[in-house]
Parts: sequence; C-alpha cells; structure tokens
Amino acid sequence: PEPEAEPIRPLSGLPGPIRVRVPAKINLHLAVGPLRDDGFHELTTVYQAISLYDQLTAEPAPALELAVTGEGADDVPLDGSNLAARAVYALAEATGRSPNVRLTMRKGIPVAGGMAGGSADAAAALVACDALWGTGLTRDELAETAAELGSDVPFALYGGTALGTGHGEVLSPVLARTQRHWVIALADGGLSTPTVFAELDRLRGTGRPPPRTAGHDALLRALRDSESAPLAKVITNDLQPAAISLRPALRRTLAAGVESGALGGAVSGSGPTCVFLAEDREHAIRVAAGLAGLGVCRTVRTAHGPVPGARVI
Ligand code: C5P
Repeated sequence: PEPEAEPIRPLSGLPGPIRVRVPAKINLHLAVGPLRDDGFHELTTVYQAISLYDQLTAEPAPALELAVTGEGADDVPLDGSNLAARAVYALAEATGRSPNVRLTMRKGIPVAGGMAGGSADAAAALVACDALWGTGLTRDELAETAAELGSDVPFALYGGTALGTGHGEVLSPVLARTQRHWVIALADGGLSTPTVFAELDRLRGTGRPPPRTAGHDALLRALRDSESAPLAKVITNDLQPAAISLRPALRRTLAAGVESGALGGAVSGSGPTCVFLAEDREHAIRVAAGLAGLGVCRTVRTAHGPVPGARVI
C-alpha cells in the first residue's frame, strides 16, 4: 500500500489565525431582585445557548486591531470599550502576554438585542487568545476573567443550559437533554441593558408594579420533559414589562408569534429580540413564515438549543 502522505505544516512556524464560533443566549427564566450597591441587580436566571452564532478570528498583529462585519456591524464600537478588546487586555494582563492581536468578528447575533452578543464576542476572544498564545487555561480559569467583563460572559464560554445567580455570572449546569426549536424575531434597533433595568426599577416604584416571576422549580421540571408545550407555559422574564414600556410595539410582536402558532414566547433578556418556542424544526419554520408575513419585526430566524459555548473551529 501507498505510504500515508505527511501532513502539510505551515512553513513559517507562526500560529495561523484561530477561529472561534460562539452562540447567542436566551433566558428561559429571568427573576430580577433588588438593585445592589455595586450597580447590579441580584438575579436568578436560566440561560440556554442557541444556534445563532458570531464568528471571531484572532491572529498576531503589530497592535490590537478590531474589525466587525455582518448583522448590525456599524453599531459595534471599535475602540477600547469593545467587550472583546477588553477581554484581550484582561487575558493578556492575567497571563503576562502582549495584547497585540487582530480580532475579526462576523456578527450573526443581533447587536444590543438582549441575546448577549457583546458577551459572546468577549468569550470568543478569551478562547481564541488562549489558543493563540498557548496559555492552556481551563474553561473554569477563563470564566474567572470572563466574570469581570460582564454578567453573561461566563455563560457564553460554557453554553448548554445553566442556572445563573449573583448578577448572572455564577453558573451551575441544568439538565436539559431535549433539543428545543426556537423562532427569533429580530427588531429594528437595540435596547440598552442598563436602561431596561432602570425602567424596571422605575415601574417597581409606581403604584402598579409589574408582577414578579416566582421560583424556577417549574421551569427546571419542564426542561426535563421531552414535550415542549409545558415548557412554553413557564418561560418568564421580569425585564419584559420594562422592555415593553420602552418599546410598546413589542406587545404586537409577542402576540404575532402566538397568532402564528408558537407554543409561547417572551422578550429575550433585556430585548428587543423576542423568542418563541415551537414543537419541532418544521413547526418552527411554519411559525417563522407566519411571523415574517405579519410584518412585526425586521427579520425572523429559527434556531435550536441547547448548543455548546465558545469553541475553536
Ligand atoms: O454585566 P453587563 O455588562 O451585561 O451589565 C450591563 C449593565 O446592565 C450593568 O452595568 C447594569 O446596569 C445592568 N445589569 C444589572 N443587573 C444585572 C446585570 C446587568 O443591573 N444582574
């Protein structure tokens, strides 16, 4: 037999670009507690990572450089305030490396959409730089740096389905074996997360505060059920009334999802994206077509979850 060919190696010996794929998150349960002294609200949430992705590439460069393409790219800051840039600086600092990398991000996750797109890019940057620099940190070690960058960054590292406490950054895995099928209604323009939390505080200070989400036991039970209808009934989000108060048109989007046959739906995180649960893939495609026809959102996607967190591809 022919001898096996030698694998082709790069001649330069320099590491090639590292490419990382990272998912969006949705919140199946989001109970917001009191505002703490550090400016965050105590919260209990159940995250699920879904198959709507950003792709980030990292390669050596003379200085830290950022480029963004795709969905809403023009709204992403390209300076040091970019969460992925902050992730590079934080990891470089923690591991004694130089932050001189070029990051290229291709957005598939809506910007300022309540799906943790910025957090996803930060998680992807951590995974990419760890691989590029050969620092060999574990996911748990990367999560320590991630937690300092933002509430949702640790979850974007792990993906799957997880319970988040603290301000969202303290995670424990949740049993959720059934693949769920989601329909995502993307809105025109974003909503600022701090503004939505502040609106919730304002509404809670009025004579008619919005009802508060109860415990998450029913949701965890529904996630263990292979049927999706029971799950649809227990999806809750305390930020939803605040997002609707700032963007009343969301009421119509939510109603349109149900009119299109979805099992149920909610605003995703701080919005304005809305997510709807379907029975299966075919049902999701039908719901998406119905929703698109009603003209209540910029664009409609389907996705499934849970999916893994940020990974080198
Ligand atoms: O952690 P992250 O960067 O996503 O948070 C952005 C802002 O959202 C915070 O500065 C805070 O105003 C608000 N927030 C909050 N309580 C949380 C998470 C976020 O008030 N648990």
